[in-house]
Amino acid sequence: MPIKKIYTEAYPLYDDGEHKVFWLGIEEADEEHGILTNQYLIVDGNEGAVLDPGGYFIFERVARNVLSRIPQVNIKYILYSHQDPDVIGTINLWYEEAPMAKIAISNLWIRFLPHLGVSESSRIVPIPDRGDVFKLGNSKIIAVPEHYLHSPGNFGFYDEKSGILFSGDIGAAAFPKDEWYLFVEDFEEHATYMEAFHKRYMSSTKALRAWVRYVKKLNPKMIAPQHGAIFEGENVKKFLDWLESLEVGVDVFEKEFWGD
Ligand SMILES: [Fe+2]
Ligand SMILES: [Fe+2]
Repeated sequence: MPIKKIYTEAYPLYDDGEHKVFWLGIEEADEEHGILTNQYLIVDGNEGAVLDPGGYFIFERVARNVLSRIPQVNIKYILYSHQDPDVIGTINLWYEEAPMAKIAISNLWIRFLPHLGVSESSRIVPIPDRGDVFKLGNSKIIAVPEHYLHSPGNFGFYDEKSGILFSGDIGAAAFPKDEWYLFVEDFEEHATYMEAFHKRYMSSTKALRAWVRYVKKLNPKMIAPQHGAIFEGENVKKFLDWLESLEVGVDVFEKEFWGD
């Protein structure tokens, strides 16, 4: 399905009146700028958290869709899964756009942020390796360690109230041209769009299987990655089982590049 204009607006993934989660839209023009990305907003009461708001060419859309749901002074957190340009490219703009927000990213990446023009660090929150908990209104967002999947300092964010796990690049899919959908329907077909990405961008089978074990216990209702489509219902289990059987990164590296 090609990207349609309707998807330029925020789309609700969860809403119980008090607690809301939105996917923040996509535009046809996004296809001209490399891999498609997903951004998310969590609102509890009058506080909001923006997840992986991304790079420059999507800033206008993401900011518009965030500010249509919450005043900028009520944005309490900007939460970053890792340090890639498609994740933190506009960190200096969000510093201004969300003047009260704490900006959280793995402890490993703090020293690199000045290179993006972030010269004032009082609102930067380093996430320790073991993870952290962020209180939003009456809800909690848990930073789930995803180290080496793919960045050495990487976090997913689990929104307890909605049961949605925002998984960063885990679960990423690269759609073929003119193909796009928001929710996974045909898992087997979707896996063909995920496989090459995971084999090359994920570093370690051991790290991946440890994450799958943790997430199976967490039992999320939905898994929402930063690229590709969202898993819900039985596709959550299918996705976790698929990941468990996948070999990635250093474990396939030798064979892929130098042969047997
Ligand atoms: Fe990445
Ligand atoms: Fe990414």
